[in-house]
Amino acid sequence: MKGHKIHCIFDDGNSLDFDCSAEDSLITGAEKQGLSFVFGCRQGVCGTCKVRCTEGSVNHGEQASLDVLPEEEREQGYILSCVASPRSDLVIEFPYDAVDVGVDSDATSSIATVLGCEQLSTTVFRYRLQHMSEEGSQPEALEFIPGQYMELNIPESDYWRAFSMSSVPDEKGEMEFIIRLQDKGKFSNYLRDAVKVGQQVKMNGPYGQFTLEPSNRVRAFVAGSTGLAPLVSMLRGMALTNDNGEAHLFFGMGDPETFFYEEELRQLEKAMPNLKLHLFLISPADDWSGEKGSAVDGFRKQFDGTGVLPDVYICGPDGMIKATEQVCSELGIPAEQQFKEIFVASGRTK
Ligand code: FES
Repeated sequence: MKGHKIHCIFDDGNSLDFDCSAEDSLITGAEKQGLSFVFGCRQGVCGTCKVRCTEGSVNHGEQASLDVLPEEEREQGYILSCVASPRSDLVIEFPYDAVDVGVDSDATSSIATVLGCEQLSTTVFRYRLQHMSEEGSQPEALEFIPGQYMELNIPESDYWRAFSMSSVPDEKGEMEFIIRLQDKGKFSNYLRDAVKVGQQVKMNGPYGQFTLEPSNRVRAFVAGSTGLAPLVSMLRGMALTNDNGEAHLFFGMGDPETFFYEEELRQLEKAMPNLKLHLFLISPADDWSGEKGSAVDGFRKQFDGTGVLPDVYICGPDGMIKATEQVCSELGIPAEQQFKEIFVASGRTK
């Protein structure tokens, strides 16, 4: 059956067309033609795939959550591309650049060698890769902006996941990823059971626009779970460029077994005189040197009543982002000073 014509307009002014059948979601239809839209849960619950439809209509079925796509936004034409199927030809505006849908994917494909994989807590792994030259014989630097992500392939499969780097670009092309384990996740199973040092891995990227904005204001970084990764990369980027601006990192987990990366964060604090760490556990043990409670509450306490309106970088689960946005609004921090990325345990898939 002939599909509907989907005309896509990107933030950088580029555009492209693809055909999508009424039976497919826009993301699935795009994938059938080699395009990779940005998405997270793929189930209509996280909002990562939200785009604006300016012409035509779609069918959302039952799946689009009212939490992430309230009635007011639906009336403005917003749709969730992971669950919306076209009812007619469409014109869609994307809040990101054409390169982020893999339009240039040939230009950004490369390979890496596995340097190591270790468990950091009951729920988190550190996965280290080294970017290689085109022939795969030599380590080679990979340029990226702290805060960006790569799509990583499980060797000998067509399974991809997207993860943010926690490292910064270096001459040897070494990269670090902090990855949350899921009980039955394919990537988690690969990291637990099948990864081998020296193995070659395909990757695409770097992608993403969740990066540091130039500013003289105080910066607050609020992280939940492995949403810590892009924020640590940004802080390391500040250290690398001798950006001595005042920065606060608020990071929390539930209990001591799930907490990770404390030593690395303490080292970063030592290297950055104007960085203040605020580490939290909801249920700490007696020997916990950080604070009790949530990172979001810590963020509120730090700035409440001070008159300081920091730039705020937020990465974590949807609920944590919403709670931090609420605190930002209570503190009077303007929307233009809030930069967010939802961390979804399943990552983006390709
Ligand atoms: S709502 Fe579409 S990817 Fe999560």
